[in-house]
Amino acid sequence: MMSTSYLVTIISVLQLLSYADTIFISYEDARKAVIQAEDQLIVGARIHLNDVEDKVNDMFMRYKYDELGAGFYDPDVNAAGLHFFKGKKLVEQSKVLKFLKRMPKGAILHLHNTASVSSEWMVRNISYMPGLLRCTNKEGTSILSFRRTARDHGCATQYVRVSDERARSLSPATYDRSFEKLINLYTPVPEYDYPTIKHVWRKFQNMFATTNDALRYLPAFRAYSWRMLEEMYEDNVMYAELRMDFKELYDYSGRTFSPERTVHELLTIVEDFRRQYPSFMGVKAIFSTHRDVERSRVSEKFKKFKSLHKAHTDFIIGFDLVGQEDRGKPLHNFVAELADLPRSAKYFFHAGETNWYGAATDMNLLDALLLNTTRIGHGYALLKHPVLWNAVKRRDVAIEVSPISNQVLHLVTDLRNHPASFYMSQNLPMVICNDDPGFWGTKGLSYDFYYTIMSLAPNHVGLKTLKGLVWNSIRYSVMNENERRTAFENLEQAWERFVSDVAQGKVF
Ligand SMILES: *[C@@H]1O[C@H](CO)[C@@H](O)[C@H](O)[C@H]1NC(C)=O
Ligand SMILES: *[C@@H]1O[C@H](CO)[C@@H](O)[C@H](O)[C@H]1NC(C)=O
Ligand SMILES: [Zn+2]
Repeated sequence: MMSTSYLVTIISVLQLLSYADTIFISYEDARKAVIQAEDQLIVGARIHLNDVEDKVNDMFMRYKYDELGAGFYDPDVNAAGLHFFKGKKLVEQSKVLKFLKRMPKGAILHLHNTASVSSEWMVRNISYMPGLLRCTNKEGTSILSFRRTARDHGCATQYVRVSDERARSLSPATYDRSFEKLINLYTPVPEYDYPTIKHVWRKFQNMFATTNDALRYLPAFRAYSWRMLEEMYEDNVMYAELRMDFKELYDYSGRTFSPERTVHELLTIVEDFRRQYPSFMGVKAIFSTHRDVERSRVSEKFKKFKSLHKAHTDFIIGFDLVGQEDRGKPLHNFVAELADLPRSAKYFFHAGETNWYGAATDMNLLDALLLNTTRIGHGYALLKHPVLWNAVKRRDVAIEVSPISNQVLHLVTDLRNHPASFYMSQNLPMVICNDDPGFWGTKGLSYDFYYTIMSLAPNHVGLKTLKGLVWNSIRYSVMNENERRTAFENLEQAWERFVSDVAQGKVF
């Protein structure tokens, strides 16, 4: 016999689902109705899976449940709840990751180009390029360059040749290991090496300083950009919108080349790459500049952006401010400077990458939306702002969720507590991104998808939600209509091949 208080609860819950008149529903049916209603809201819920996809989903879910089950009984093996650096080995052995690597993932919509390539390749390639020099600045950070303009880069020591240092070291392998540490945050004990957000951001920003000048050396820029495309392609990513600045490049003779040349170089590399891999759709660029500067500097950069955009409207698509939000200047500060965006350009602001509820940084979300941002970088703090997330939903502004980045950079310890669970649970517009994969030893999007499906999503959710997120990445890109149509066609084909391969046992 059901007590009256239960009945009242059931009725009030069902009223939310407009079941108000069916009072004589059983307790168990009421439970089912609520669970089903929530399942219908999640990202991808309304996607219909065909028979092959259903079979593939069953296979995927077996592996997902196996791993979650093991983790439920032993938190030490629960990769979904561990810091990525602690769980890395588990993730890399995971069948779920293997599946995700093979899965077509569409587009990366939030990626900083100078942190996009794996440190392992940097060691193998850039560190062996003839002429690479290293000095140390007064904070003790290594600066890499191919030109001897040491003072310009804050060197406090003489430059030494990396090849000489390597020759003098215990062994090349020893040297290479220490070199890699300069450009990768990985440590088996992040809680000791980075006790606070300040420690990890300091090293993180320093790594940009370490590689900045070396990557502006024309041969290094070319090799690096090519490798960036390769690492995407190898991870079954077909397209990207890159955050990048367009600083001058230089060559061995010390000649420098204008940002126009940088654009030209990148376009040529992408074109060559597409000749070799025609299913790759290319890249576009979001002009990004540091937020921790004076207003006049932002103004200057914004002008530069506008002139590049005018010359390459379809390639330099928009503007963003980067760097630690809490340490940089709030967006509100630059509203006057950012007033006259060309009609053909868009904003893609980083906003809400903070734990400071109600602080000036937290308001970046508000200003980003008032400035009509097309997407939001991170949007980590968005769930605390009901008016703003309702606006995001209504205006269909995609949130660029980068789970590993948010964990490594100290916003959240256990990714099961990441606010993107909330965004997913009610299908807010969102895409999965990787932000700076080279700086923490991931490649492509698969690792971030691992945490998305294992940590952010509910246990029983699988292929529909994955597919929903992949399709979102093309939907929320700013490809033109022709490109988007082709992208969806290519994606459909790649997806069909993928599910057929999995179904035939070619993946597991
Ligand atoms: C670095 O990468 C480029 C582009 O892939 C390649 O042409 C070059 O041979 C590589 N250099 C080394 C030292 O591995
Ligand atoms: C806001 O952005 C959207 C798409 O990003 C664009 O279509 C619209 O024209 C913009 N509105 C204003 C007032 O700039
Ligand atoms: Zn970012």
